[in-house]
Amino acid sequence: MRIAMIGSGYVGLVSGACFSDFGHHVVCVDKAAAKIDALNAGRMPIYEPGLDSLVAKNVAAGRLSFTTELAPAVADADAVFIAVGTPSRRGDGHADLSYVFAATAEIAAAAARPLVVVTKSTVPVGTGDEVERILRERAPDVEIAVVSNPEFLREGAAIDDFKRPDRIVVGTEPGNGGARAKEVMQEIYRPLFLNQSPILFTGRRTSELIKYAANAFLATKITFINEIADLCEAVGADVQDVSRGIGLDNRIGAKFLHAGPGYGGSCFPKDTLALLKTAEDFDSPIQIVDAVVKVNETRKRKMGRKVVAALGDAPRGKTVALLGLTFKPNTDDMRDAPSLAIAQSLIDCGVHVRAFDPEGMEAAKGMLPEATYCTDAYEAAAGADAVAIVTEWDAFRALDLHRLKRAMAAPVMVDLRNIYRREAVEAAGFAYSAVGR
Ligand SMILES: NC(=O)c1ccc[n+]([C@@H]2O[C@H](COP(=O)([O-])OP(=O)(O)OC[C@H]3O[C@@H](n4cnc5c(N)ncnc54)[C@H](O)[C@@H]3O)[C@@H](O)[C@H]2O)c1
Repeated sequence: MRIAMIGSGYVGLVSGACFSDFGHHVVCVDKAAAKIDALNAGRMPIYEPGLDSLVAKNVAAGRLSFTTELAPAVADADAVFIAVGTPSRRGDGHADLSYVFAATAEIAAAAARPLVVVTKSTVPVGTGDEVERILRERAPDVEIAVVSNPEFLREGAAIDDFKRPDRIVVGTEPGNGGARAKEVMQEIYRPLFLNQSPILFTGRRTSELIKYAANAFLATKITFINEIADLCEAVGADVQDVSRGIGLDNRIGAKFLHAGPGYGGSCFPKDTLALLKTAEDFDSPIQIVDAVVKVNETRKRKMGRKVVAALGDAPRGKTVALLGLTFKPNTDDMRDAPSLAIAQSLIDCGVHVRAFDPEGMEAAKGMLPEATYCTDAYEAAAGADAVAIVTEWDAFRALDLHRLKRAMAAPVMVDLRNIYRREAVEAAGFAYSAVGR
């Protein structure tokens, strides 16, 4: 198969590299010339474990290339994937579909032969209908089928997720070339059937909704355990034992039951908001997701206040070392990271922030210019009155607590990811607080 991937960000680049690794010929397109220049020079524009070698291998095999020119890539393709961003629209929280529709218009202008256009971007119900309308209007003579194929990869484990997905969801419409589109999608994902990955064929609108329902459910699970963590603190229980105690029930499952500073990242915040807007538009409110969004929003600053409280009665002028800035480990993605709200609430209280993150600092500098950026955890801790673990990078799991203490002005640790045992930290002479225990 010949594939054009429109948008070469976290999803497009990983998907394109994996498809080429399956043996397909893939051209990754992006408007951002700097990204394409970097890729053509063998440099990755994002941090994702294993991506550099996967890209290098498939470029060398002649199956993967990068360009800013959409038209030739589309003209040659059997399938065109749209993997552009769908951020929250300023003002109302709806998904901003302007990038999707602009890419669609460009595809229509370049389409020259029968084509399957696949939305991999997370898009609200009905977007596929609109993409199809634009294509019909602008390329009436070309046979084009529009498919929804949402992506479920997790940053930090993206390649493994893509190659061993829990499921592949493909939404087609019965008329409108749907049967041919199904065959093309089956051919594209055929290598995954060998490792028994289930493929779920649905209607297009159903497929679009599956992605939002999945993210909203996961966000709900996280928010649920975060509220249980608060209750644990109030009643003197341990949230990690509660998580274990409920997670061993197969109907509940152990994943996404880690209490912490609230969910962030490039997906859950915007996707929960967009789902609420869809529900509102269709007069079918989802109150549980509404509550999740509100609870999560307040939680991030609440975690900032928790850190401030650990500084004692006079926080103003004191210093906190923030360890970890990205919304989760093994990515450089800073979009909607809880660290931003936490740092801001510290700064608002007159607290100085010294920060270290293994991969996220370049992106963080523009978003959080007031912080001092350091080269490792110990430098961040130098002279600090408290250290707060915000992202559970492996590099923070086995800190030399004695060295850390020697560097600090006061030995205080706020572990917002529950990665330390209280006894070990207290034995090293720290005042320790965590989440829900
Ligand atoms: N990041 C994730 O973990 C993840 C997971 C699943 C789904 N998604 C969804 O996938 C979509 C993409 O997310 P992302 O994180 O990869 O975004 P991203 O911002 O990293 O990448 C999008 C890219 O598209 C490019 N682009 C925009 N318009 C273009 C056009 N007309 N032609 C060519 N390139 C264009 C941008 O320059 C950018 O590089 C979103 O809808 C997101 O919700 C993301």
